[in-house]
Order: sequence, then C-alpha cells, then structure tokens
Amino acid sequence: MCIRNLTGVRTLPDTAAARLAYAGAFIKNNAPAPRSMNLAPEAPTVAAVSVTDMRERIRRKSRLKGRQPEDAAMADVAQLLGPRPATGFRRDLLIEYLHRLNDHFGVLHDRHLVALAQQMNRPMAEVYEVASFYHHFEIVRGEDAQAPRLVLRVCDSLSCSLAGARELLAALPERLRAAGQADVQVVAVPCVGRCEQAPVAVVHQCPVPHATVDTVLEVVESKPKRALARHPQALIAINFDVAALAEKSVPVPPGEVSPAHADLVTYRAQGGYQTAAALVNGEMDAEAVLAAMENSGLRGLGGAGFPAGRKWRIVRDQPAPRLMAVNIDEGEPGTFKDRTYLERDPHRFLEGVLIAAQVVGTEAVYIYLRDEYHGCRALLQAALDDLRAEPPCPLPHIELRRGAGAYICGEESAMIESIEGKRGEPRMRPPYIAQVGLFGRPTLEHNFETLYWVRDIVEKGPEWFAGFGRHGRKGLRSFSVSGRVKHPGVKLAPAGITVQELIDEYCGGMLDGHQLYAYLPGGASGGILPAHLNHIPLDFDTLQPYGCFIGSAAVIVLSQHDSARDAALNVMRFFEHESCGQCTPCRVGTAKAAALMEAPVWDADLLDDLAQVMADASICGLGQAAPNPIRCIHKYFPHEVGEGPWPGDLPKPRNSPLAEQLPPGGKP
Ligand SMILES: Cc1cc2nc3c(=O)[nH]c(=O)nc-3n(C[C@H](O)[C@H](O)[C@H](O)COP(=O)(O)O)c2cc1C
Ligand code: SF4
Ligand code: FES
Repeated sequence: MCIRNLTGVRTLPDTAAARLAYAGAFIKNNAPAPRSMNLAPEAPTVAAVSVTDMRERIRRKSRLKGRQPEDAAMADVAQLLGPRPATGFRRDLLIEYLHRLNDHFGVLHDRHLVALAQQMNRPMAEVYEVASFYHHFEIVRGEDAQAPRLVLRVCDSLSCSLAGARELLAALPERLRAAGQADVQVVAVPCVGRCEQAPVAVVHQCPVPHATVDTVLEVVESKPKRALARHPQALIAINFDVAALAEKSVPVPPGEVSPAHADLVTYRAQGGYQTAAALVNGEMDAEAVLAAMENSGLRGLGGAGFPAGRKWRIVRDQPAPRLMAVNIDEGEPGTFKDRTYLERDPHRFLEGVLIAAQVVGTEAVYIYLRDEYHGCRALLQAALDDLRAEPPCPLPHIELRRGAGAYICGEESAMIESIEGKRGEPRMRPPYIAQVGLFGRPTLEHNFETLYWVRDIVEKGPEWFAGFGRHGRKGLRSFSVSGRVKHPGVKLAPAGITVQELIDEYCGGMLDGHQLYAYLPGGASGGILPAHLNHIPLDFDTLQPYGCFIGSAAVIVLSQHDSARDAALNVMRFFEHESCGQCTPCRVGTAKAAALMEAPVWDADLLDDLAQVMADASICGLGQAAPNPIRCIHKYFPHEVGEGPWPGDLPKPRNSPLAEQLPPGGKP
C-alpha cells in the first residue's frame, strides 16, 4: 500500500487503523514519521507539514476542484434565494430553489446551478442530478444561451389526441411563424389535468381550454411577456356543497379555467372548521372519528384503494414524531377530479387535513401539488394564508410543495423523495412509508380527494357515505370522464355504476355520430375494455378479472372512430416518457414495447415476453401496470393488430392501419 507525497513514494502500514494513527501522529507532532513505522530505509525524509498548512492545502484544493461559481451568478442566486438562514439553505428545498431560478430566467443556466450548489454547500453533481430529472427544468449551457420568450405546451395524451391535439401541434409552428411569433417554443407534453376541456394548450402558465389554432394565437398575442401569461384567478366566492352533488355531475362553466370558489368566510359561514376545532380542542373524541372513517368504507382515492381508516390506525400506532404527505400530483392521464374540487372548495380539503393530523398525531403536513396546477397553487396558498391569519384551532406545521413535471412523483415513495428535494425515484419496500417515510419518519400519505371527504363523513356519519352504491358496491366515486361523450367532466356517481350507465345518465350519451367502441376505466394504467363489457360495475376489485383496474377512476371513452391500438400506443409512449429509469425492465421495456407496438401486425410473442418481464421485475406500479394496454389489446382487440379476424359486427376504426386491409370476418 503506497501513497505519493511531496518527496517520494513510501510504504505505509497495512491496516486502516494503523495508517490513521500514523498520519495523525505525523501531522500532530509536526515531525517526520518514525523509523518504527517500517518505512523503506532508503526513503528520503518527508517535509514537515503543520495542521494549518494541511488545512490551507485542502482548502486550496477543494476550491479549485470542479467548476468555480462566477461572481455574477452568485449574486443572481443570492438575490432570488434571499438572506441565508442561520442554519444554511435547506437541502429539502432544492426543488423550490430551482423553481425560483426557472421562474425568473425561464430556463436553468448551468452557471446558476454551480452557484446554487455553492450557496447550499452541496456537491454540484447533486444539484445537477435533481435539476435534470424533472421535465419542467431545462438546463442550458454557455453565456449566450437564452430562454424562449414563451413556451407553449400542447397536451398530446389520449383525451387531447382524440380531440385533435396532433393536428394542433402540426399546425401551430407554421401559424406562429406567419404571425411573427416564431420565438414561441411549442412543446408536446403529457396530460395537464384538464381532459374535459380537450384539446388543451398552456401558454406559459395560462391554460387554453378547447384549444384551436386561433384561440391559442389570440392568447399568445395578448401575452407578449412570460410574466403576463399567468393563470387567471376567479374573484367571486360561492358556497360549494359537494354533498349536494352526490349522484350528479360537478357543473362545468363553459370555457372557464377559474371557477368561483368557497373562500374562508363563506366556508366558515356554512359550519366549516367546526369539526376540526372541536376535535383539536378536545370536545370530540378522536377514536369516534377514526371509527367513522373505518365504517364509511372510504378507500384511498389516489389509485391503490387502501382503506383510509385502517391506514390512519396503522400510522397512529407508529412512534412519534409522525408526518403527513398529501398527494395532489394528479398525473394519471384522464384524471382531473382533484383539480376540480380544489379549485372550487380548498377549505373542505384543508379541514380534512387538520382532522387527519389530529387523529393520527402528525406534527407536520407536506402538500405536494403538481406544477401544472398554477391556478390551484395560488388558490391553495391564499387559503392557507387566510387560515393562518384566522386559525379556528392550533394548526400543525403545513408546507406547500411544488412538483416539477414528473408523473412518477405521484407514486407515494417517489413523492416523498421529491419532497426531500431529490430525484423522484420510487423506493424499494419494505419498509413501507407508514413506518419509514418522509425524513425517515412514519408517514400518513393520502390523495387529495381521500381527505376531501373526511369532514362530510364525520359530520353526516359513515352510513351517509356507505349508503350510496350500485350493483352491490358501496360509496361515492368521482369519475373523471373524457373522450367521446357529450358532457365530459367529474361525475359524483355511486360506486359500482357501469360505464354505460355513466355515459347515459351522467354524460348525456355519446357524441353525435359516435358509438361506444372501447373504454379505459382507470386512466393510462388501468387497461382498455371493449364495448361489450359495458356492464361491469366500476369499482376497486371488480375489474381485476378482466385484466384492468379502476385506479383514480379516470374513464376515457373511445368510439368507432378511434382505434384501441392507437390508444394503447399513446399510453405506452406516455409510460416510456415518464419512466424514472431506475430499473431496466421498465426503462428499456416501455421504449421497446412502444417501438414494437408501432408495427401494423404485432409480434405477439415478443410483446408478451416483454409484458411479463415488466410486470414481474419492475420496482413500482408504473412498470408493473405498463403492460396492461398490451395485454388488453391481445385479449379484446386482436383484430386490430393482425392477431384475429375482424369481427363482422364491429365497425372498423378510422385510424386503424389494418382496417382498410381487413374484410369483415377475414384475416389479413
Ligand atoms: C405510477 C404511480 C403514479 C401515481 N400517481 C398518483 C397521483 O398522481 N396521485 C395520487 O393521489 N396517487 C397516485 N398514486 C398512488 C400513490 O402511490 C398512493 O397510493 C396514494 O397517494 C395514497 O393515497 P390514498 O390512500 O389516499 O389513495 C400513484 C401510484 C403510482 C404507482
Ligand atoms: S418501474 Fe419504472 S418508474 Fe418505477 S422505479 Fe422502475 S423505472 Fe422507475
Ligand atoms: S389534459 Fe390532455 S389528456 Fe388530460
């Protein structure tokens, strides 16, 4: 074992402990190493080094290592971050700091990342690996790199594609050029959570519902600067009583991006926060609230459907301090229920948070909101400010955190990583987050809507919620319905309703000229079912025998003008784009599957093998659910991929590459 020093090569003791002792003595005594250390007799004498010398040498070396921050970049970052806290800049707020830079400059300049790393006293690699993980951060290099004047995002996920997003994407660059707006950058992006308003474009932060080339151009021309392209805010307050909408549709004001909402005054005037205050002030029994949650049968509405009351009890039994994390990432294509309720009724959700925090005994609450919901962020921040200004009871510590465009951060452990300021890569389990979650503490994690129902369940009783239901199922479900129906939107329907009933009773039927051909019962992840399975009760556990699941209850309806294989390809491309890349079956499998699914006639065996590996060997639900569309096409739509005859009674979808080649009842 050798080290090279200033004067030559020496032999050092073999064990680490002996080497340390050797070095320590050498430095401390400021003297040459003793002969007793078995140094080679011919070795020249080593120059003495004092502790101060050594420190200075380390300081000089570390200063020179890697790229050094520029003074101007340090000043930019210091200005945006504000004064340095006594304990330094928090590591877990790294993504928030990146947002400040990104909002201000429109992109992330590499010089600012170097300066940020220096300000936070973190390695540059750490800052860079986080910044480069999230789709909403674009890192640019060099002095001359400029941010585009405006970024125009066009959603190309399934519901928007059905409504003409591809045509919009194809036409916009030319029209923008012709209108002298060539410096606007057009980007295709995954679902922005407004599928009932498809197709949707977003000019910087300003959504354009039911977008056409003309309406998009109008918005671009009226917002010459990034700072002006903000989400509009509603000014009128209303009383939003969600219970009154049970078994009804949530009204959608036409073309409205900012509906009126219940503010704190209105919410309190209707009895709001009385339950939370009674509980926190000890006038209500926490055990009774927990029993109500258990008896209501409320299951987690983020997708996994774990019974909410049981989760509360599990986390409550863990050692303190406990934390809560709220999931408003809502990235599943086709899902927009959380946004719909949040932008109308933020305080009912916050009251649910306060009740859960009190019953479970969580000391701090972290609310993770997807970056695409700019209007909701402003609304929720204002609601939190109002609540803090006039608290109905002592409040727990609450932080609102901002996602940065990564679907995988909706997965609970990835969300926790992201709140900790890291890349959103799912964790291996066990341990489960109820035991070891955020910052290593037991964590109660809930979807927005799960908490939204808490106040009504406690006040109206568990039997009120469990009293709804159809076809043997219990409870209410907020279905986000989009696609080929007359009236898309959030439908607060009984659990167990069938897709046909949902379309007929809640959506005004199919669009004129369209008939049901297929549907996705649970967004991109939940699989694809054919029209003849329109009688299955839609709920947790009812769709598994058909190779599907309800997930976040995002129902996307396809008609005879669409093809199921196109839908499957669209969702596979989404998974490919959103895979965090941590495990090979998902990272490589989704890309390979998407390429194979483009062929008019599928290589069924190869795709089957791929589907098996992805389902068996992926770490998290993204990779495990990604094969669902492949399997559903094999099972229900083999005629679309050359694996079976075209059924005589089925209309041929306009877009199917095989439709023209296949006579009814014939093989290719
Ligand atoms: C890939 C993936 C994405 C997910 N996205 C979301 C999401 O956007 N919102 C959400 O609430 N849950 C999402 N989930 C489910 C969460 O992991 C978790 O089960 C849920 O937030 C727990 O809350 P709940 O019990 O109230 O449903 C996702 C799961 C996976 C596997
Ligand atoms: S399955 Fe996909 S998304 Fe999940 S951890 Fe693996 S690579 Fe990441
Ligand atoms: S907003 Fe386009 S698919 Fe959801």
